[in-house]
Amino acid sequence: MSPAPDPAHEPAPAARSRRLLVTTLLAALAAWLALALWPRAGGEAAGPAGPPPSEEQAAAAEPAAAPAPEPAARPLPACVYGDEPAPRAALDDWAYTLLDTRFRLGADYAPTDLVSLPEALAAAVPDADGALAAAGHELRSVAVPALQALFADAEAAGVRLAVQSAYRSYAYQERTFAYWVEVDGYDVALRTSARPGHSEHQLGTAVDLRSRFGPPAWDLDDWAATPEGAWVAANAWRYGFVMSYPRGAEHESCYAYEPWHYRYVGRELAAAVQGANETPRAVLWRLAEEHREP
Ligand code: DAL
Ligand code: ZN
Repeated sequence: MSPAPDPAHEPAPAARSRRLLVTTLLAALAAWLALALWPRAGGEAAGPAGPPPSEEQAAAAEPAAAPAPEPAARPLPACVYGDEPAPRAALDDWAYTLLDTRFRLGADYAPTDLVSLPEALAAAVPDADGALAAAGHELRSVAVPALQALFADAEAAGVRLAVQSAYRSYAYQERTFAYWVEVDGYDVALRTSARPGHSEHQLGTAVDLRSRFGPPAWDLDDWAATPEGAWVAANAWRYGFVMSYPRGAEHESCYAYEPWHYRYVGRELAAAVQGANETPRAVLWRLAEEHREP
C-alpha cells in the first residue's frame, strides 16, 4: 500500500500547468538569447576566424610538464688551460679536491695542520740517519701516519725510500714552475709542472718520492722500474696513496707520466681508484659531478 500524498506538497493540477507554461517560456527565451549571442561569443573565444594562439598561450594550455630529469653527469673534460676555482676546495675536502690544468686553488689556500716530515719519518724508520726527508718538508697531519706506515713497511721489505718534495705553498710553486720553464721552456714545463695554484702539492697531501740512495726520480728514465719505484707503484694504494699521473694517460691526467708523485686520498678512495683502472683525475671528476648542485 502506497502512502497517501501529502496535500501540503502536492501541487494542484492548475498550478502545475502554469508552472510548465512558465518553464516553457523561460526555455524559449534562453534559446532565443543563445542564438542571438552565438556569433559574437564564438568569434571572440573559439571561432576559426580568430587569430592563432601565441606560443605563450599555447604553452599555457599544455598540461603541466613532468619534472625535469636530473642533469646527466658530464664526461671528463679535455685538459684545457684555465684558472677556475677547483671543485670541492674546502680544506676538509682534501681527498676530493680536483686540480688540473684548468682548476686551481687560491693563493691563500694553506693547510693549518702541517707536520714536519724529517722527525715523523725518523720515528717510523729509526735507522735511516735522517736521510728520509729534508728540513722544511711538511705534510698535512691526516696523511702522515699513512706515509709513516708506508715507509716502515717498505723498509721492512728492504726498500729504501726518501721524500724529494712535499707541501709546496702557492709562492713556492711559482718558483718551482718558473724553474722548470727556465730549464725546459714553457711548453714542456706546462706538461711536467703545475702552474701556481694548480699543484696537488699545495694541498699538503702530495709527495714526490725517490730511492734514498739515488738521484731525484725525474732524472731516471722510469723510477717505477727501480725496486723502490716498483714497490711503491704496487703498494701505495694500500696506504691510501694514488699515483696522480700514470704512464700513458697524459690526455686524461693532464700531465706527463710521474712515477714519483703520489697523493694521499685515504684508503677507501685509493682502493676505488685502483679498482677503477682510471686516473685519479677521472675518478675525482665523477665524484665532483655527483656532488654538484643540479
Ligand atoms: N709536477 C706536478 C704536476 C706538480 O707540479 O704539481
Ligand atoms: Zn709532485
